[in-house]
Amino acid sequence: MKKCITDYNLNGKKVIIRVDFNVPMKNGVITDDNRIVESLKTINYAIDNNAKVILLSHLGRIKEESDLASNNLEHVALHLSKLLNKKVTFINETRGKKLEDAVSNMKEKDIILIQNTRYEDLDGNKESSNDIELGKYWANLGDIFINDAFGTSHRSHASNVGIASILPSGVGFLVQKEIENITPVIKNPNHPFIVILGGSKVSDKIGVIKNLVKLADYILIGGGMAYTFLKSKGYNIGLSLLDSENLSFCDDILAKYSNKIILPIDTITTHEINEDVNCEEKDISDIENDDIGVDIGSKTIALFKKYIDEAQMVVWNGPMGVFEIEKYSKGTKKLLESFKKDQFVLIGGGDTASAVINMGYKDKFTHISTGGGASLEMLEGKVLPGIECIDEKD
Ligand code: 3PG
Repeated sequence: MKKCITDYNLNGKKVIIRVDFNVPMKNGVITDDNRIVESLKTINYAIDNNAKVILLSHLGRIKEESDLASNNLEHVALHLSKLLNKKVTFINETRGKKLEDAVSNMKEKDIILIQNTRYEDLDGNKESSNDIELGKYWANLGDIFINDAFGTSHRSHASNVGIASILPSGVGFLVQKEIENITPVIKNPNHPFIVILGGSKVSDKIGVIKNLVKLADYILIGGGMAYTFLKSKGYNIGLSLLDSENLSFCDDILAKYSNKIILPIDTITTHEINEDVNCEEKDISDIENDDIGVDIGSKTIALFKKYIDEAQMVVWNGPMGVFEIEKYSKGTKKLLESFKKDQFVLIGGGDTASAVINMGYKDKFTHISTGGGASLEMLEGKVLPGIECIDEKD
């Protein structure tokens, strides 16, 4: 079992907390602050225990100079300060004298957020390639390292694995909660156990299907990825999304697990993905050459609901349609509404998490993961390097 923040005496210590503040932003305004909100428990715990808190996070991906401005963490520092109702000192650099002076002048309960760790990627990909010197430099700023960035735990970067390989380490409450909720699904699920998958690409879900098809009773497939499976079954999918590179994967899975893979029986089609263009509900066998499938139809909603009703455990990753457009969000919404109060429902991160939160269902589910890629990799049965590197309990 991994050490946790509560296993350390934080009094007067400089505690480096790796958080995942990689939040969606539009013109400098945060459009979904869930990841920040979910990390408050760990930050508050450190403050309440008289730590000096040094926060590290990435934001977006930095490939060229022009990526810097749009991925500046300063807006996040302001938002965090509001949420904590406390001063957060933002250091506009990832290393250097200003940062070192600020850290050495810290008092107990002070909080510093340093600039986007991936600014270091501009000069030789140092953060993302886990540059040893960079990890050492950041480790030298603190006494204890806490990983509370579940969303980044599938990455082996200087700001997680690099620091953890030097300092005494533990996980924060957010990471602990993710592990506690995802582990039973992959180790010992209660049956009937169903997996609902959607989203556009089959390729994103291959690992999850391979791992969970062995554990689950049924895998319900909707969203854009369903059309590649339907094509594999011989249906005309018109102009709907086709992941042709993974058609043979669908052939193999359907051949081996035809009784477990449940596909849509009807669909909403249109001729252009646009709010103002008409759409129609059709049986799968009626899709025409110029149709684009954009949501599951009402017969599929009813079919999927039957499986949901029976299930003891549900994992859901990926929307059932183009949910960003109101009239194609019905499939996703109707299924979200159909879960019972006492049902174990784990919602994977990314688009599904945003859909759930934006539609106001946040408190309805057992667990909404803050990790997109990280939760998928955990469901694939992979070991996450950002968690693996953390010290074990004695
Ligand atoms: C995420 O949003 O999934 C995490 O913050 C990781 O981001 P990345 O895919 O850019 O590493």
